[in-house]
Amino acid sequence: MITNTELHSQGNVFPGKLNQFDQVVDTLTFNTDNGVILRLQVFRDSVIRFKYGTGGKLEEDFSYAIDEDGNRGYNKLEVIEKENHYEITTSKIICKISKADLRSRIFDLEGKIVCEDELGFHYEESYQYGGEIVKMSKKAQPGESYYGLGDKPADNNMRAKRFELWGTDQYAFGKQTDPLYKNVPFYIGLQNKISYGIFFDNTFRSFFDFAQERHHVTSFWAQGGVMDYYFIYGPDVNSVVSGYTELTGKPELPPLWALGYHQCKWSYYPESNVREVAAKFRELQIPCDAIYLDIDYMDGFRCFTWDEEKFPNPTQMISDLREDGFKTIAIIDPGIKVDPEYSVYQEAMEKDYFCKRADGPYMKGKVWPGQCYFPDYTNPKVRTWWADLFKGLIADNGLAGVWNDMNEPAVMEVPNKTFPDDVRHDFDGHPCSHRKAHNIYGMQMARATYEGVKKFIYPKRPFVITRSAYSGTQRYTSSWFGDNVATWEHLSIANIQAQRMSLSGMSFAGSDIGGFAEQPTGELFARWIALGVFHPFCRVHSSGDHGDQEPWTFDENVTNITRKFVELRYKLLPYLYTTFWQYVEEGTPMLKSLVVYDQEDAQTHYRNDEFMYGDKFLVCPVLEPNAKGRRMYIPRGEWYNFWTRETIIGGKEAWVDADIDEIPLFVKAGSIIPRYPVMQYVGEKVIEFLTLDVYCAIGKDKSVVYEDASDGYDYKKGRFSLRNLSFNGTENEIIISQYKDGKYTTEYETLRLNFIGLPFEIDYVEVDNLKISMEDLNYDLNTQTMYVNKNFVELHIVGK
Ligand code: GLC
Repeated sequence: MITNTELHSQGNVFPGKLNQFDQVVDTLTFNTDNGVILRLQVFRDSVIRFKYGTGGKLEEDFSYAIDEDGNRGYNKLEVIEKENHYEITTSKIICKISKADLRSRIFDLEGKIVCEDELGFHYEESYQYGGEIVKMSKKAQPGESYYGLGDKPADNNMRAKRFELWGTDQYAFGKQTDPLYKNVPFYIGLQNKISYGIFFDNTFRSFFDFAQERHHVTSFWAQGGVMDYYFIYGPDVNSVVSGYTELTGKPELPPLWALGYHQCKWSYYPESNVREVAAKFRELQIPCDAIYLDIDYMDGFRCFTWDEEKFPNPTQMISDLREDGFKTIAIIDPGIKVDPEYSVYQEAMEKDYFCKRADGPYMKGKVWPGQCYFPDYTNPKVRTWWADLFKGLIADNGLAGVWNDMNEPAVMEVPNKTFPDDVRHDFDGHPCSHRKAHNIYGMQMARATYEGVKKFIYPKRPFVITRSAYSGTQRYTSSWFGDNVATWEHLSIANIQAQRMSLSGMSFAGSDIGGFAEQPTGELFARWIALGVFHPFCRVHSSGDHGDQEPWTFDENVTNITRKFVELRYKLLPYLYTTFWQYVEEGTPMLKSLVVYDQEDAQTHYRNDEFMYGDKFLVCPVLEPNAKGRRMYIPRGEWYNFWTRETIIGGKEAWVDADIDEIPLFVKAGSIIPRYPVMQYVGEKVIEFLTLDVYCAIGKDKSVVYEDASDGYDYKKGRFSLRNLSFNGTENEIIISQYKDGKYTTEYETLRLNFIGLPFEIDYVEVDNLKISMEDLNYDLNTQTMYVNKNFVELHIVGK
């Protein structure tokens, strides 16, 4: 490992003095007298790219992460030469580049420092591999906090820690294990109430040190490639994540069913077992939308084949399951069995699509099928070929989605768990070794899979899930956190990972609920379900070798608790879908760690447990056995306890009761939450009315409800229904106004308003200026509900 100590090594080269400056529109080039170049590009008022070259040249631009369709452009760009520096001003920030050594300092418009170079850019030549080890060091400001970096299991705030990015198959990883499966070189800094992000777009093995080695320095470096990073100004964390996601891409909307509950195990087989498990869900009335086939459905683990004994008629099975509301998803790994009789192998051999070692032999490694070769997904032709292989599974057999695993890539029985460094890759026409391609291998596999699923499932929407990922992978797929363990510590890790993934632009993620390795107790499973239903991706999975992990395998109480929480997830589906839509539109994180919710409150900076589910719900899992509740921090503002409907003013710690069938759950006062009836699967029932839970407050708030056909692409042609709802409450009147957008006609005609905490007895109600009798509103005094037409514009509820 290259340590930061080598910053001081003799071999380090620093930029010399500026001797030439040049500006072409948004691109500024600084050349120094020792051949270092800084090319600074103003992407947006809040986003600046810093790319360095050495030896008098800049490498050609190429990135798997950057979304070419992202928003670009700025309102203001002013460049002034000062005595000692250049000053670049946008409508959001001021960036100063020193003429003496190219060090940068970024300020907000009030002149407050946001982020500044310590030593700044420097590099060391790599004799062993050629090229350079590229390094960057920044000052860590007093009290600065750090977040992000993908799937790291450590605490949310990364200050005083060091991390590595090198995707690794980490079976039964622990809290301190590093690196894990994903490679997301993006972090958020927060100091003096200002936050910013750094995205280091380098795919080589890289390191981030957050004031660990030197207490006032944060640095990052990579074992090759170039120093190419983006600075993203907030000043709030939410905007940083949104800016980063805009840069690296947003997903399309998933089909609504993909936000339902998924059931998985290694493995359900034969066919009768799959049918039994599915039937049991319906019998016990536990909602479920997807069932998974792990590796044993294949013939000898050969991808794109079926074991005909275990699954004599997969098309029929999948179709019967579909009739019953289940979508079937199957696993596909990258390792292709070395078997001259196997058509996928034959084709890849004929077309020369497998990865090769530097000296010519194929990259051979052991995975589930035994010796395998591995497609080079960094070759666009290989990706097209791979995508087309899905015709059978999707178009012919009827699978609804694909699960990509082992794509770090994982190789068994070798010390480094992956390919050797010398393996060659195409890298989309920029041939390179595995040192450069390793961290994007899984992403490119998932991308090719996504293209295939999308092609053959059309006009419906694709669903893909991956284990490994690099920045930008969110454009193609959801993900899970890999092989966790059925322990209480892992419940807490899952909570942190889900928040961290949301902060890292990859909101559509979740853990193996209950734990993959080992067997959870009923209590642990119940607590995990209670958390898991609040993660954007919700799937129970287990290795299956320690017993079963379906909701009914514990006891009746656990079955009932599972049903209760899964039902809650289904009731809140329109809320979750709206939150997903906001992520797609704005790039905002679906789960918000408390620091995202209220970064100005220093109490939130080191918190791990509590998080916001969307904008309105505060969730805090119980993470210990034998608990009847827990202490938690309630952030500032007024909240309703979801279960008791009592209100509480936040900004303090509180004990919250939560027996085994509850989870501490609060709703922001002033929220309007959409709710569907419980369904066993998405689309099971006609929705007769949309319930809106109105959490009354004295004050104003805004809520949105997004709906569309739940699948397909009509929404892109404007066929969606967006309700912008404003709440305005005083002591004796509540006004709710609605502004509608979109051309989708929802199947229901009526909204059922359900008032929680109504502060007065109703005297009369006006809908769009007309008094409506309480009878016509179907008002129920006990439940505080009334029915109004879905197209109302303004509703006055006036107290006596
Ligand atoms: C890996 C995956 C796990 C899967 C197993 C068998 O361990 O992480 O989810 O069940 O392989 O395919």
